[in-house]
Amino acid sequence: MKAIIPAAGLGTRLRPLTYTRPKPVLPVAGAPIIVHALRTLLHAGIHEVAIIVSDATREEIAQTLELVPEARVTLINQHEQLGLGHAVLTARAWVGQNPFCVYLGDNLFEHGVSPFIERFQQDSPAAVIALVEVPDPTAFGVAQLEGERITRLVEKPKVPPSNLAVAGLYCFTPEVFDVLDGMPPSARGEYEITDAIQGLIERGRTVLGQRVCGWWKDTGRPADLLDANRLLLERITPDLQGEVADSQVTGRVVIPASARVTRSKIVGPVLLGEGVVIEDAYLGPFTSVGPGSVIRQAEVEHSVVDAEARIECLHTRLQDCLIGVRAQVRGGRTVPRTHKLILSDASTIELA
Ligand code: UTP
Repeated sequence: MKAIIPAAGLGTRLRPLTYTRPKPVLPVAGAPIIVHALRTLLHAGIHEVAIIVSDATREEIAQTLELVPEARVTLINQHEQLGLGHAVLTARAWVGQNPFCVYLGDNLFEHGVSPFIERFQQDSPAAVIALVEVPDPTAFGVAQLEGERITRLVEKPKVPPSNLAVAGLYCFTPEVFDVLDGMPPSARGEYEITDAIQGLIERGRTVLGQRVCGWWKDTGRPADLLDANRLLLERITPDLQGEVADSQVTGRVVIPASARVTRSKIVGPVLLGEGVVIEDAYLGPFTSVGPGSVIRQAEVEHSVVDAEARIECLHTRLQDCLIGVRAQVRGGRTVPRTHKLILSDASTIELA
């Protein structure tokens, strides 16, 4: 079976991080989000994948593929971001006459996607859609069910027909392309995948809903990245290879051979990237630090620090932070103790 990963969206909810980097390459738990997605598909036995990219993001997404050489990836450009349905339609020729699945490039499933694929292959419906119970379904595509069959799907309903939201995994026969082709855009001007699924239902086709087991995470907003990082770090296997001197390391911690920890305390789960330097510092649970970063005389907890960042000489602990590539956070060394900030557009900081 082939898979499409739509990853061409603008990622507006993750600005300012997505002003300079596409959402799929942002790291959680030591790897870009899209690499986690590819590994999930490989685990389900799917090796042939098309990633839908925008003209602007193609290059950077292509670079991350080196991390998953086992996947046979084709990049397909979606020149205009006209919605998820349009992104899927862009891959029509690549899919051909085969059944396929669509895995949203910013979604994570605790137990992977095999159960949905197996169900689709066993029962041969027109579609299998992953569904997840959510407390407030109004921000999602929502399903109405009769038994396991979806009888209606509505995008972001004011009055939801159930609390079952559409999660980011769909299996389809190529018939969905016939529905997508010629379908009008929605009120918000996008070609919606939910409208295409509704179209299949209206053609009398069987569309099955299958509930997600375990956690599911859509990494659309900054807090979701922190959650995803936490959930994935829960599962890391400790691996202490780097030099650890005069330090205390407890819990599940990964320190690669090229990283160095001196006069510090680390309480896992914590994941350090290649070449990371930790000195006179405290790293608390659920922190991942990207390659080449330095944390010195500072305390960091429940945070994602991207590559080559520097965090030094802080008087307060950083918590719930997303720190971008080559970003620097330094404590003042001079009086008066003022805050000197260089913040890019739409940045957020909270000062103690
Ligand atoms: P989202 O609805 O999360 O949109 O798309 P987005 O652009 O990523 O993020 P926001 O809403 O602006 O913050 C779900 C998935 O579909 C892809 C996205 O890349 C994401 O993986 N997508 C969306 C496309 O590939 N093309 C589109 O035109 C729209």
